[in-house]
This record gives sequence, structure tokens and C-alpha cells, in this order.
Amino acid sequence: MKVLIVGGGGREHAIAVSMKKSSRVDQLYCVPGNAGIAQIAECDPAIGVMEFDRIVAYAREKAVDLVFVAPDDPLVGGLVDVLLEAGFRVFGPDRKAAILEGSKAFSKDLMKKYHIPTAAYETFEDPEKALAYLEQAPMPIVLKADGLALGKGVLICNTLEEAKAGVKEIMQDKHFGSAGNRMVIEEFMTGREVSVLAFVDGKTVKPMTSAQDHKRAKDGDQGLNTGGMGNFSPSPFYTQEVDAFCRKYIYQPTVDAMAAEGRAFKGVIFFGLMLTGEGPKVLEYNARFGDPEAQVVLCRMKNDICDVVDACIDGTLDQVDLQFEDNAAVCVVLASEGYPVAYEKGFEITGLEHFEGKEDYYCFHAGSRLDDQGRIVTNGGRVLGITAKGNTLKEARTKAYEATGWVSFANQYMRHDIGKAIDEV
Ligand code: AMP
Ligand code: GLY
Repeated sequence: MKVLIVGGGGREHAIAVSMKKSSRVDQLYCVPGNAGIAQIAECDPAIGVMEFDRIVAYAREKAVDLVFVAPDDPLVGGLVDVLLEAGFRVFGPDRKAAILEGSKAFSKDLMKKYHIPTAAYETFEDPEKALAYLEQAPMPIVLKADGLALGKGVLICNTLEEAKAGVKEIMQDKHFGSAGNRMVIEEFMTGREVSVLAFVDGKTVKPMTSAQDHKRAKDGDQGLNTGGMGNFSPSPFYTQEVDAFCRKYIYQPTVDAMAAEGRAFKGVIFFGLMLTGEGPKVLEYNARFGDPEAQVVLCRMKNDICDVVDACIDGTLDQVDLQFEDNAAVCVVLASEGYPVAYEKGFEITGLEHFEGKEDYYCFHAGSRLDDQGRIVTNGGRVLGITAKGNTLKEARTKAYEATGWVSFANQYMRHDIGKAIDEV
């Protein structure tokens, strides 16, 4: 099989590594890809993920048998529909289904209609009405821009003043662009967060092993929200009881609800969950693998990824016995100092060769490229996802942090407390 992966981050590198392991894959392509992915796939760094015509032309030129669309923007924008129309076999939700991530107002209304546990909320299109609502709302309160905002369109406000400023930022100053034309205001929940990714074929849902992200930029969960600074899998807090509850009241009902709405979902649903005192509730849905969740989950998956992808496309996921290794993985993101706001890039990355031939250690590239002289240089806020597997979470964490010392680049920044929660169990 010839496979094209669309995307160019750590998630896509992890997907590419899984694809490379499959005996069914002869040739891998990736657009735009990055310097890490380029070691195992043919990449075209000139093609952007929103250049649908160029992606179709590239897929035709390479005569690929399967296209795997990984990032949120092209999924929500309808790349899957365009590729299907062009006659390709595609993994990922179509535009109608990707709205599950593309509109927070849609996903909240869906959960309300189908009684899926989530925080209480109201939706607003008029900033004046939002401001009036806040006057009697309990604090803290959570404001969410409706559309895609690189995972940054969520504001947690402790006071009425902060909340009012937040409404202005989202709806009037349009800090997150058109994502802020509508806004969800929701109840603040407390509890532990868990991410569960699940394969879906339109009707059957098969959850993968759990993971826990670290979204804030700084140690101790301080600083701004990022795409994710590291994570671990599995989460020791995601017990069998929690899993049974979520399968019954969250995962299957969500898939059924999408089908009932005429938006059958095929691909991966990312369930962002909060384990509250009243039970697990949905924080958010994503219509794709998480980044870096894919890094710690896929390296532990026993199945051939192509078999699972086929089953999702063909609607035969009920026949797949999805299995994960009985071990653990930890990913520590090496970022550029200043991420997620402003940072310099173009610095040489050295030491990458230390990962060669080392079992259980992975250096997933999130933001890298080859420069004119053939050197691998930094090319993003998140640069590398240093990932290690171990028999236990603690062992995996020790190995991952050990491996962060093998590579270096100027301006390097990381959190030192990824997986700290493990010590509480
Ligand atoms: P989201 O992109 O919706 O997952 O939100 C980003 C982060 O904001 C989540 O990972 C949570 O840490 C936090 N968050 C979102 N919604 C809530 C809520 N209703 N209560 C408390 N924290 C929240
Ligand atoms: N790490 C969270 C996300 O991919 O959205």
C-alpha cells in the first residue's frame, strides 16, 4: 500500500512510525511533513495542509491507496470530502462530522440533546447578552470561543472583571478571529483530566488506552495554555469503573448521537474528560488524534494500524480486537523558549543520532526542517517530543527525561514535572 499522511507535527511523526511498522505499507508520503518524518517518508514541505487542490494533485501523482488526514484545520475545513470526491480512500471524519471539534456550540448542544454528561452552559452571539448573563453567574467561570483556536480559545475567569474582559477579547477584539463570532459560557468544573482517544467507524467505538496531557506552558500548571507540553499513558486515575461509565454514558452515546444527526463519524474521536465528584464529564471533543497524545498511545498499540484504519473506513470495527501493551509511556516536549507566544526558530538540533537503534526511545519531531545546508533546525514552538516506554509509568518517566539530555538546540525549553501526578498513586 502507498499511504499519504497530511500534517507535519509530532502526531504525524507518530502516525508515520506506526505506518512504517506495518507489513502492508510499501511507501509512505507526508505533506508537508518535517525533518523527522522525512527520514521514513517522502515529504513535500511546500504543500500546506489547507492547500486542498495541491494535496489532491500530489495524491494523484503518487497514486496513493490511502490518505490519512491528521490535523484539525483540514478536517474541519472538509479536506476529507474533497479527497473522497476525487476518488481516494480516506481516513478521517468528513466536514459534517468534524464539526464535533469545529464548533463548541454544536458539541455542547449535541451533549445536551442526548444527555451526555458535560458542564452546564449557555451559548451567545451577542456580546451584550453575554455580559448581562455574567452579572449573576457564579465565579470562576469558563469562556470558550466557538471555533478552532489552536487549543487556546478557552479562558478560565476567576472574577467578574476578568470574565467581562474575556468576552471583549473573544467577541469584540476577536483575539481568536472568527472563532469568536459565537461563544460558550460554561460552568467551571474541578477534577482530574484524562484524554481518551477512540477509533470510530460510524457506529462502533473502540477506545484506546488513556493518557493525561499537561496543557500549561510552565511547571506546576502555570502559564498559558499550549497544544500540550508532555503527557503520559495510561492514566492511573482512569480506572475500570470510570472506563465502564464512559463507554456507556459518553463514548457510545456520542457516536450514536452523531449518526442520529446524519453526521456519522469515522476516524478518531478525542474525548477530553474531567473526573468530577459527580462522575466523568466531557470537557471537549476533538475530531482527531491529540498531539502529543498520539505519541504515547500509538507506540503502545499492538494492532497493525492499517487494519484498524481499514475497519474504520469499511464499518467493520466491531470485528477488531484493539490491544495495547501492558506498559507505560511518557512524552516530554522540547519547545522553543517563548512558546506559545513568540519564539525564534532556525537553530540547529544536535544529538538526534543517539536515538538510533534504541528500543523503547522515540524522538518525534514536532517542528523541524532541513535547512539549505542539510542541517536539521528548529521550525516551531513545539520542536521535539521525547518519548520513552517503560514497564511502569515511573520507569518511562525516568527514561524520557534521561533522553531529553541526548539532544540539544539553542533556546530549548521544557517542563520538568511531566508525570508528577504519578507520584500521588
Ligand atoms: P478545552 O480546549 O475545552 O479542553 O479547554 C482547555 C482546558 O481548559 C481544559 O483542558 C481544562 O483544563 C480547562 N477547561 C475547559 N473547560 C473547563 C471547565 N468547564 N471547567 C474547568 N476547566 C475547564
Ligand atoms: N494535546 C491536546 C490536543 O491535541 O488538542
